[in-house]
Amino acid sequence: MKLYIETVGCQMNELDSELVVASLRKDGYELTASASDADTILFNTCSVRQHAEDKIYSALGRLKNAKREQPGKVIGVLGCMAQKDQALIFKRAPYVDLVVGPGQLHQVPALVREIRAQGGSRTQQMEVSLGRKDGSRAQIERSHESFDPLRDPSMRPTPYQAYVRIMIGCDKFCTYCIVPSVRGPEQSRPPRDILAESRQLAGEGCKEITLLGQTVNSYRYRDGDRTWRLSDLLESLHEIEGIERIKFVTNYPKDMTNDLLAAVRDLPKVSKYLHVPVQSGSNAVLQRMKRGYTVEEYREMLSRTRDWIPGVAVTSDFIVGFCGETDDEFQMTMDLVRESRFKNSFIFKYSERPGTKGAELFADDVPDEVKRRRNNELLALQNEISEADNHAFLGQEMTVLVEGPSKAAEKKAMGEDVASNSERAGASPPPAFSEQLQLTGRTHCDRIVVFTGNRRQIGHFLPIVIYDANAHTLFGEVVTRHTGPELVKLTLPIGLEAQSG
Ligand code: 5AD
Ligand code: SF4
Repeated sequence: MKLYIETVGCQMNELDSELVVASLRKDGYELTASASDADTILFNTCSVRQHAEDKIYSALGRLKNAKREQPGKVIGVLGCMAQKDQALIFKRAPYVDLVVGPGQLHQVPALVREIRAQGGSRTQQMEVSLGRKDGSRAQIERSHESFDPLRDPSMRPTPYQAYVRIMIGCDKFCTYCIVPSVRGPEQSRPPRDILAESRQLAGEGCKEITLLGQTVNSYRYRDGDRTWRLSDLLESLHEIEGIERIKFVTNYPKDMTNDLLAAVRDLPKVSKYLHVPVQSGSNAVLQRMKRGYTVEEYREMLSRTRDWIPGVAVTSDFIVGFCGETDDEFQMTMDLVRESRFKNSFIFKYSERPGTKGAELFADDVPDEVKRRRNNELLALQNEISEADNHAFLGQEMTVLVEGPSKAAEKKAMGEDVASNSERAGASPPPAFSEQLQLTGRTHCDRIVVFTGNRRQIGHFLPIVIYDANAHTLFGEVVTRHTGPELVKLTLPIGLEAQSG
């Protein structure tokens, strides 16, 4: 049986898809790169912005005829949009068989089995969590419990890197954000589960883990008299042999405590890379967003972070055109970006989400044209800064964990159809080991480095000297060292000591 799965949205969704695929493989499914020859088609969806939902509804629209011709095909919508829209999905796309929220993904194999067993006399299946007002906190929490039992290395970005969920949900209720309603209350996973999962990953050859949570640095777990914070977890994870890099996303500015900064500074395996979204440079906008901090407090956090962790790379998210955002308010965001020198920023046009406080309280009154202009202006400024700061690395040697062929090399190998499914499903045979190709990897500080190498180097740490840089990418060459009379290209993993950047 063949499974086609499309994933949109954040890393949390990528991880959820990995787990769903692993559980369906147990039921005899194999991945396929094309929806047309799949027996089951799943969409793991995102609700953060309208655009992500529109894409899924149009993809569903394209399946209408396929379902008429092959009624046995199972079509499912999973994740945040399933939780948000629920039965509305059946209304808009009546040929969908299955709607499953992020808290019920463990039920997917049984539900698919049930639908297949029904054959022609089909009933649609929907499993979603309770709404934020539909029960006691404990009941709501239970209904959102996450699904982290099985790992599937073939679904990970690379076999050497894995996501590990440490928290689910969010209780911050920023007024623009749908996450607290679709992912439920903030819940931290027990440290023993996180440690066991990370040890298992290390045993499978994984070298880098990225801890995931909507507000990952708000992690708190009470275990008897002990309360575990993220810094405690990092210390324990640091002990795991085989894990050589530890990253974590996304941080909430107010919870960037000194114990965490000290852990990042003192634990060499922990990347000196922090994603701490500020969203806006105007106090009035931050207040309307209900972010819970002022620009001054964010600045203090940023300078404390840089004092404590020399060389740290900080990145941010911004929303432009939030309700009532004036030109002056936007200019304050420009000023903050100018002075903060983020490694990079993700910039989004505000998208009103029904069901949020923002949609209830404020009009989405900034014209799309203005949002687009502000987006471009902020992006141009950030790119200028990223490029200038990347030039500081010219001539430097950096240690890179090699992830795989660069996007350009992948395109060349597979033609234009580079859907991630095709590689994962093994659609095209990999070129010979020794063939030279363009590879991509990341530094400890999450900078992308492109260089020429061979497939044998994938999954290894390599020293790369940087000779060129733009805003998003460093370009380098594998460092060659004299060993006796000959120049030998290093292809062996090296220790952690040399890691930088
Ligand atoms: N509109 C636009 N961007 C949003 N984000 C969250 N909600 C919205 C929204 N309604 C952005 C924030 C967040 C990132 C993951 O997505 O910047 O940090
Ligand atoms: Fe959304 Fe705010 Fe929670 Fe982030 S902290 S997930 S932006 S509500």
